[in-house]
Amino acid sequence: MPCNCCEITDNIFDEDSAKADIKDYRKHGPANQTKLILEAVRLLNLKDVTLLDIGGGVGVIHHELLKDVAKEATHVDASSAYLKVAKDETEMRGNTERVKFIHADFTDVAADLPQADVVTLDRVVCCYPHFRSLLNNASELSRRAIALTYPREAWYIRFGLGFINFMQRLRRDPFRVFVHPIQEMDALLTKQGFHRSSMKRLFVWEMALYKRM
Ligand SMILES: C[S@@+](CC[C@H](N)C(=O)[O-])C[C@H]1O[C@@H](n2cnc3c(N)ncnc32)[C@H](O)[C@@H]1O
Repeated sequence: MPCNCCEITDNIFDEDSAKADIKDYRKHGPANQTKLILEAVRLLNLKDVTLLDIGGGVGVIHHELLKDVAKEATHVDASSAYLKVAKDETEMRGNTERVKFIHADFTDVAADLPQADVVTLDRVVCCYPHFRSLLNNASELSRRAIALTYPREAWYIRFGLGFINFMQRLRRDPFRVFVHPIQEMDALLTKQGFHRSSMKRLFVWEMALYKRM
């Protein structure tokens, strides 16, 4: 179900960047912040779980977790270009039967999705203005854990993202990036019945893993 969010993200997460991302993944493996999610999920010692990857991009998280942790995955993404590249890669890996792809703003379709054991949002909350609806819906769909990465609340991140938004305004492109308040995201997930069991920081990104209490 394409949506306004999809039109906005389609402009920025286009075919060229999707092709560049998959090329990079094939050459270098998962990005550093994605590795933190993969490591945290693997440390849960789960097997044959169902995975919901929200804003999964070219699908790195399910390509990786289908090897040893997940039996099947659902990938919801607002970008048709990213979904196409993710689908092609999934087919190449022989996993077509194990992954369901949905082109939508996740918050529009969440009510129709089944629960999954593990829910992931890698660099997604920063691309979406309404972090509360994103995380409320994500947590309602998670049976066991949620792992997410988001930008740190550091001055240099605010400066960098402010510059990106300034350039976006000049280009008259409505897509914006956001540094959402980490404490409020944490409070929301705690209220939804999760506790943060691990957190790691890189220069730009922070990764937090929440387990259902
Ligand atoms: C920065 S990219 C990250 C992609 C991938 N998770 C990664 O880390 O490589 C953000 C992705 O989230 C998707 N996205 C943003 N908001 C979304 C929403 N509300 N519903 C579904 N997908 C969304 C975008 O289309 C894009 O593919």
